[in-house]
Amino acid sequence: MSAILEVEDLRVDLAVRSGNRTVVDGLSLSVARSEIFGLVGESGCGKSVTAQTLTRLLPNARIVRGAIRIEGVDVAKASEAAMEKLRGGTVGHVFQEPGSALTPWMPVGRQIREVLDLHRPVDDPEGEVVRLLEQVGVRDPALRAHDYPHQLSGGMQQRVLIAMAVAARPGLLVADEPTTALDVTLQAQVLELFRRLRDRTGTAVLLISHNLAVVARHADRIGVMYSGELVETGPAQAVLSDPRHPYTRGLVAAIPTLPPSSRPLPTIPGQVASIDPEAPGCRFAPRCPIVVPACHAGHPAMSGKDSLRQVRCPRVPLD
Ligand SMILES: Nc1ncnc2c1ncn2[C@@H]1O[C@H](COP(=O)(O)OP(=O)(O)OP(=O)(O)O)[C@@H](O)[C@H]1O
Ligand SMILES: [Mg+2]
Repeated sequence: MSAILEVEDLRVDLAVRSGNRTVVDGLSLSVARSEIFGLVGESGCGKSVTAQTLTRLLPNARIVRGAIRIEGVDVAKASEAAMEKLRGGTVGHVFQEPGSALTPWMPVGRQIREVLDLHRPVDDPEGEVVRLLEQVGVRDPALRAHDYPHQLSGGMQQRVLIAMAVAARPGLLVADEPTTALDVTLQAQVLELFRRLRDRTGTAVLLISHNLAVVARHADRIGVMYSGELVETGPAQAVLSDPRHPYTRGLVAAIPTLPPSSRPLPTIPGQVASIDPEAPGCRFAPRCPIVVPACHAGHPAMSGKDSLRQVRCPRVPLD
């Protein structure tokens, strides 16, 4: 399968008031065409910075090392004109908080039409807007196209954003916590929608969330991110049912069960530490239940480099 997105040994630093802050370091992943890849990890591990760096959306971010390639475009080196084509054209973004991502004073149909005019001019834009709204499950799309964002529910606003993100028929949809603002029923509907869109149009999806259970149910493969790098990757169901890395094990153990267990839910002690790229050792070692002195010495590499299943922990080699 050829990849639409390839990230190779990426390091991203952010310019902050106190100087420079490394938030992604050593991240490698690839997303194949038509694949739904789930990127999961605790708050602050660098998921959103990664998502936004893919199309250079963060003004204070700098790609210090490594590469991002999208449809053959080398993102670190591409011209601003090439990036403009990529954003909203080859790559569609769906972010959290649909309310703030829509323009409040413009009917939603016109907002979708602007994307079409810019990235995929068609003969009948009005009709195409209605078709796009229909495709994302909006009922009475011809009427709803005239609504302003505030007239729509949160779930409907998120559908409009998805319609905008797919209007240009992107090869890759980057969805960063697309369902956090929605209730559980709507969450499931929106995630189901990504699957249907993928099946119908072949759009690959990078689905980002801190909720491993949600992502594992809707993705083909997942990557577990910790402190700016992947610590485990593999087919979604395999990772969920047989997690190997102690961090992934902690995340899986923390998934609430139904009916609720009488035991308190286990949590992973400590929190994500800031990254020191020069520091030796495993970044998870200070929180790891199976840590040994050697873990503080060398930075562990991913095992199973060419296999579907990879783990960054020499204590749990893959068989
Ligand atoms: N624009 C910014 N300027 C400075 N620091 C930032 C900026 N955006 C993110 N950070 C910091 O970079 C680190 C990674 O943040 P990021 O938003 O990528 O995490 P995340 O994995 O998306 O978390 P969450 O699950 O909470 O969305 C965090 O420590 C965060 O505080
Ligand atoms: Mg985030």
